[in-house]
Amino acid sequence: MKLADLPTPCAVMDLDVVERNIDRMSTRAEELGVRLRPHVKTHKIPFIGRMQTPGSFKGITVSTLAEARTFAEAGFTDITWALPLPLHRLREVVDLGAHIDLGVLVDNADTAARLAESGERLRVWMKLDCGNHRAGVDPTDPASIDLARVLYDAKNLDFQGTIAHAGHSYSTRGDPERLQRIAEEERDLCVDFANRCESRGVAFPHVSIGSTPTCAVIDQLEGVTEIRPGNYVFFDLFQQGLGVCGLDDIALTVISSVLGQHQGRMVLDAGALALSKDPGHEDGSFGRVRSVEGQDLPIELKQLSQEHGLAQGHLPGLDRVRILPNHSCLVAAMHPRIYGVRGDEVVGSWIPARGW
Ligand SMILES: Cc1ncc(COP(=O)(O)O)c(C=O)c1O
Repeated sequence: MKLADLPTPCAVMDLDVVERNIDRMSTRAEELGVRLRPHVKTHKIPFIGRMQTPGSFKGITVSTLAEARTFAEAGFTDITWALPLPLHRLREVVDLGAHIDLGVLVDNADTAARLAESGERLRVWMKLDCGNHRAGVDPTDPASIDLARVLYDAKNLDFQGTIAHAGHSYSTRGDPERLQRIAEEERDLCVDFANRCESRGVAFPHVSIGSTPTCAVIDQLEGVTEIRPGNYVFFDLFQQGLGVCGLDDIALTVISSVLGQHQGRMVLDAGALALSKDPGHEDGSFGRVRSVEGQDLPIELKQLSQEHGLAQGHLPGLDRVRILPNHSCLVAAMHPRIYGVRGDEVVGSWIPARGW
């Protein structure tokens, strides 16, 4: 089948570009002397996960238990669920953890105490807030070392060390120096915390960090043992705006049909459910519109409703476009199937894990 014959709207990954992106990040991890535990939430497809983890270490990061189950069924045996554990899902974690090494995250004393009391054998990571201010314990809070000690001392818990994610690296557009600073802080806060804990007798087997932007710019990772970038497989306009990739590195695109053209307006069948409403950067467009062959078109995609895209532009005869997305993870997460292409040839399609 040819790219031009796919039903629209559809999400398409260029496998040549995916391979190149994977190779680059794998080489970076090797050069930096850390293992790579890719975050597979970007695609949720075991086939891509296998491409990211060749060789003996098949460790991955997931964002949902649904992903963990799908990848476990596909043969992955070392999985970190990188969200603070909600206790009502403990039974499911224990059940899945009976078959694979499943790591969970803890970022509060209550959950730590409940896990220690549960007597269940669990692999645990402590989540640190390295400035992102989403989940995680503040490493400068003296109570953070007490929390690490509870996890370390509990006989039933297999303490892995610390995890941090510098999500605030995404707010550094136009300021590469700040991105560099955030990457260094992510590393330094975690390594320093691990050292302080170790000096008090709490051993840290692993220090795990990483977002795609920080992994792209960091040049030295002494004291860190693993990185967990995810978006790098596909990249997107957001990463390109940060200077982390070029337009040619964006592997995921959405093909849309032109449903009609009316006085300078073009109606597409790629709406919010095909592209997400992630606004991307400040230009207010929901993607960069190209021809199916990849040439930029003078079309601005400024408005989305559920199943319609409304673009400004007029190109008589145009029946299909190819859109580079603002945020590839969200786009891939909304499509029931992702097509793989090499050039204009469709070489396969995959059904990603869905749900939570
Ligand atoms: C805990 C954690 N680790 C790793 C990642 C991967 O980051 P990125 O998508 O920037 O590569 C994420 C993404 O949200 C995350 O939440």
